[in-house]
Amino acid sequence: MTAFRTLDSADVKGKRVLLRVDLNVPAEHGRVTDLTRIERVAPTILEIADKGGKVILLAHFGRPKGGPDEANSLKPVAAAVSQVLNRPVAFASDCVGEAAAKAVAAMKNGDVLLLENTRFHKGEEKNDPAFVAELAKLGDVYVNDAFSAAHRAHASTEGLAHHMPAYAGRAMQKELEALTLALGSPARPLAAIVGGAKVSGKLELLTNLVNKVDTLIIGGGMANTFLFAQGKAVGKSLCEKDLAETARGILATAPKGKCRILLPVDVVVAKELKAHAALRIVDVDHVGADEMILDLGPKSIVATEEALGRAKTLVWNGPLGAFETPPFDAATKEVAKTAAFLTAEGKLKSVAGGGDTVAALNAAGVADQFTYVSTAGGAFLEWMEGKALPGVEALRAK
Ligand code: 3PG
Ligand code: MG
Repeated sequence: MTAFRTLDSADVKGKRVLLRVDLNVPAEHGRVTDLTRIERVAPTILEIADKGGKVILLAHFGRPKGGPDEANSLKPVAAAVSQVLNRPVAFASDCVGEAAAKAVAAMKNGDVLLLENTRFHKGEEKNDPAFVAELAKLGDVYVNDAFSAAHRAHASTEGLAHHMPAYAGRAMQKELEALTLALGSPARPLAAIVGGAKVSGKLELLTNLVNKVDTLIIGGGMANTFLFAQGKAVGKSLCEKDLAETARGILATAPKGKCRILLPVDVVVAKELKAHAALRIVDVDHVGADEMILDLGPKSIVATEEALGRAKTLVWNGPLGAFETPPFDAATKEVAKTAAFLTAEGKLKSVAGGGDTVAALNAAGVADQFTYVSTAGGAFLEWMEGKALPGVEALRAK
């Protein structure tokens, strides 16, 4: 990864290191319920601390309206970070001003301090130069380890990088390496699986992918819109009928002979979306008027698995069926297991991301067998759309 400055070239000993992390973790009643994002950044925190840096953590939490509110305080998260690191983590009740300055001044080399939610200040999301300068007073070196917030051009994700030496942390570095492997300079054939409920949120993503990948496998609710666009009856299925023309446009943009698009050939249908509802497996031409498509059928699964068998790289976003409701999770799980198997055999590099995707791979029990699973939601999608992410761009070696 030569394009980005990493911790390898950072001098942190005795320095105040402003480390941007994504601590936007799921929490209930002030308790963190999933430590994954904290675990991802722990190596960066420990590396800087163990090299004698003062680690000052900057993060946002939730979407407060630009002022302090208890529900969005990072205070309970400090305890979770401390638990993961197995070290004390101090907390300051503001990310700028006197409270922050005092807490930073009290730090010794190797200490870890978490500053309160950056979004408690309006200047954060506005990337306001005055607010950036306030933050910058607290540090000597900037490290960004928050890929999942890198689609935001905020003070702590972008602005700060222009004020002091700026580096990618280890989690950011891994993410960028994995993403480069998947879409930057992938081993081909390159296959993409795109699922999820709606076409509307993923138009740019699909448009970008048809021009980059060799095989595009479309599943989930969004496939219904494509089937409808091809004149098939989809019954009561989730379907964005007003996007039929758009869907036809995407199919037409796929460069002839370069990108093969796989749509379902058979599907699992039921009259209601309910766990263990009575179901039928039908070809896509035989969906009843009172039925809805809830998963891929066996022939579609086989076609998908054959495509993966030919591919050297896979990038995956979105489940293939209504995976929260069994048995309509079957196709997602089966294809996930196949991708994991091919990865273990050394035949496939598999990169997946996006909220539901991670949950689906976890449910299939294979997330740790993929080459890389991103915990990013919006940032992963924007990257799949081919967009430059401001937080990443700011770290490019000049
Ligand atoms: C996330 O949780 O996806 C990131 O932390 C970004 O959060 P945001 O969507 O509120 O900017
Ligand atoms: Mg979000």
